[in-house]
Amino acid sequence: MEWKNLIYEKDAGIVRITLNRPKALNALNADLIAELDGLLDALEKDREVRVVLLTGAGDKAFVAGADISELAHMDSFSARIFAEAGQSMMAKIARLPMPVIAVVNGFALGGGCELALACDFIYASEKAVFGLPEETLGLIPGFGGTQRLARKIGAAMAMELIFTAKRIKAEEAMVLGLVNRVVPADHLMEEAQKTALSIASMGPAAISLAKVVVHKGIEVDLVSGCYMEREAFGLCFASPDAGEGTGAFLEKRKAVFSKS
Ligand code: CAA
Repeated sequence: MEWKNLIYEKDAGIVRITLNRPKALNALNADLIAELDGLLDALEKDREVRVVLLTGAGDKAFVAGADISELAHMDSFSARIFAEAGQSMMAKIARLPMPVIAVVNGFALGGGCELALACDFIYASEKAVFGLPEETLGLIPGFGGTQRLARKIGAAMAMELIFTAKRIKAEEAMVLGLVNRVVPADHLMEEAQKTALSIASMGPAAISLAKVVVHKGIEVDLVSGCYMEREAFGLCFASPDAGEGTGAFLEKRKAVFSKS
């Protein structure tokens, strides 16, 4: 497939998607959102893919937000449609059967911060900067930021960041629980790749089930979440990987899991 705003690479089951509008700091315009949306649909059906890494082109930005030159011409109707397209694309990330890691190499502002939040977890370079500056534009976050940030770091901290449009560095974002790991810029992709390889060595069915149960579980009460967990636990045994994993432990050898 040909992409205008994305770079797509696949190697050993690990896909790297680079958002590629460096002149606009990879800002999310309608075209880029539609391309990424289509690519996510294709990934959902690709059994070879075990982990997805999402990053930004250039050394300055992951994504500097929604494209303000498009926002400037919107009315209430078109803005709602734009937000719906962004939200729907981001919801697909959680629905993918494989983990998606945001590899945040610079500014992750507005829609960029929201995109990183929609991923399963975030690795950030030491020079990454996070924030939701929408209020400075007379707007609010529209790609799920009010919801995902509050769920991730708590409503009060999320509100402070949204109301003040304050930018925070990677280290502070890690203290808040927004970022899993902060890495020197030169080693960021390498660290993310290492984690991706480690995940790719597990059984794909069990990884998928763990992802769905965590995502769905945080939306429901504990009893319902635990119910989903035991159903999924049972489902693990429908894959040969459970027999292989437990058998390999008992035979003191390394498990060899299925490829799909
Ligand atoms: N949309 C469109 N273009 C953008 C952009 C954006 N979000 N962010 C940066 N650019 C463009 C700039 O206009 C500039 O283009 P030109 O070279 O053609 O002038 C180029 O990228 C480089 O940017 P700067 O010269 O501004 O670079 P800087 O280093 O001085 O500043 C920055 C970097 C702090 C990230 C600054 O660009 C900035 O504040 N960007 C906007 C961030 C923002 O407000 N994001 C929220 C958008 S709204 C949103 O996301 C809504 C939503 O939730 C859906």
